[in-house]
Amino acid sequence: MTTDKDNSFPLEWLRHTSPYINTHRRKTFVVWLSDELLGSPSLKNIVYDLTLLSHLGVRLVLVHGMRKQIDETLQASGIEAQFACPVETNDNSHLMRITTAEMLPLLQALLGQLRCRIESLFSTGLPNTPMSGSRVTLCSGNFVIARPYGVRQGVDYFHTGEIRKVRVKSINSLLDLGMIVLMQPVGYSPTGETFNLHAEDVATQTAIDLQADKLIFLHQQTEELAQALGDVREISVGAHGFRQALPSSLSNIRSIVNNATLACQRGVNRCHIVSSQQDGALLKELFTRDGSGLLLDAGDYDSIRSATTRDVAGIKTLIQPLIDEGILLSRSEQDLERCINQFYVAEREGSVIACASLTRFDDQAELGCLAVHPDFRASGKAADIVQHLIKEARTRGCTQLFALSTRSGDWFREQGFVPGSISDIPVDENRIEGNRGSKVYLFNLNSI
Ligand SMILES: CC(C)(COP(=O)(O)OP(=O)(O)OC[C@H]1O[C@@H](n2cnc3c(N)ncnc32)[C@H](O)[C@@H]1OP(=O)(O)O)[C@@H](O)C(=O)NCCC(=O)NCCS
Repeated sequence: MTTDKDNSFPLEWLRHTSPYINTHRRKTFVVWLSDELLGSPSLKNIVYDLTLLSHLGVRLVLVHGMRKQIDETLQASGIEAQFACPVETNDNSHLMRITTAEMLPLLQALLGQLRCRIESLFSTGLPNTPMSGSRVTLCSGNFVIARPYGVRQGVDYFHTGEIRKVRVKSINSLLDLGMIVLMQPVGYSPTGETFNLHAEDVATQTAIDLQADKLIFLHQQTEELAQALGDVREISVGAHGFRQALPSSLSNIRSIVNNATLACQRGVNRCHIVSSQQDGALLKELFTRDGSGLLLDAGDYDSIRSATTRDVAGIKTLIQPLIDEGILLSRSEQDLERCINQFYVAEREGSVIACASLTRFDDQAELGCLAVHPDFRASGKAADIVQHLIKEARTRGCTQLFALSTRSGDWFREQGFVPGSISDIPVDENRIEGNRGSKVYLFNLNSI
């Protein structure tokens, strides 16, 4: 056997990429491209790397931002950019853009320009570039159904919207055909209106609804993020206080971290925040053991997480016998689907083994529909869920948690709840007396 004297050929590296290629093939990655990146020379190399991923069999959904481009366009047109804060806080990261009807044609033109720019970069195939022989097809469309953000704190946000639904089936069909799906920060309502959306939210919700294997944010502030977190490369979103460690000067990346956390809590296995400026950072993150950016995973939240519409059937199977016995309030699959955002589940090997709901009423919250599969009872699962919901209710600023129960009063008392009366809670009397005669149990969230 002869040895290859050409040391420049990365033989060992190439061989060692094999396990990564096998791991990533046929997996779905949602990749967020920052608005900064779209205007930077780094975009070309990122397109090379995304094309490579597509050729290696990764199912890619791209979502681009355009905040910076909107600001520039408004300035050039002499229109003042308007923002308002829908919640009472001094934190600027909550500011929302007000998208007036006057801005809409500019926004539409910008969306077209950015789509053309991205499509043209993916279409290059010059012989002396990494795109040589490349044949990737990009597809964009009306994948997001939106609704108006509406009037909040007296401020009308006009064409600023929020996501109502992501058309997962259509996206999956295109991915199955080997296309790259390009999504823009825009959605359409059934009334035919166009709404300006947060690109981060589009990426996050799409990753959650697709149950993507990875959600990747390409961002320019990764160095600052790494410094703020003490150079950790991997963090569990359950790790206490890590989000608070991010200084307010990093408000932009803090909202990315919040989105990544939400995605992990809702079933996206891994979220990566990777440099959009450092050449090759994306490939290094995906094809080397140490990576290059920050990896967030579900960690402790693996056992208890927010439910998604995919859990509806599992929750229904779990609670139906208890509904039949009159222990839990009757809920149809449609009811569950409608209020799935209020549910939390614990899952084992793909099956929902425990669930509970948290419903907010001003400064109080109701813990409801608590159930643990008989095979998994008496192992502290319900107590864990209650602790999780107590934390969640405190985070949302509630002062009291209450539960209604016909047969599990003693259990709630063992968890620190005290018996209360209907006058202590903001729930319709009929639900208790006329319906099932449940008793009220209260937990003071201000206690230590
Ligand atoms: C109540 C329930 C959620 C507890 O789940 P779990 O995971 O077994 O609870 P934990 O492991 O945290 O606690 C188990 C302990 O509580 C006790 N316990 C369970 N149900 C109880 C009840 N109804 N009353 C009093 N104690 C009860 C168990 O005997 C066990 O006691 P042990 O530690 O002495 O063995 C579960 O039994 C269940 O799903 N029940 C049917 C639905 C229901 O009643 N929901 C509450 C109304 S919203």
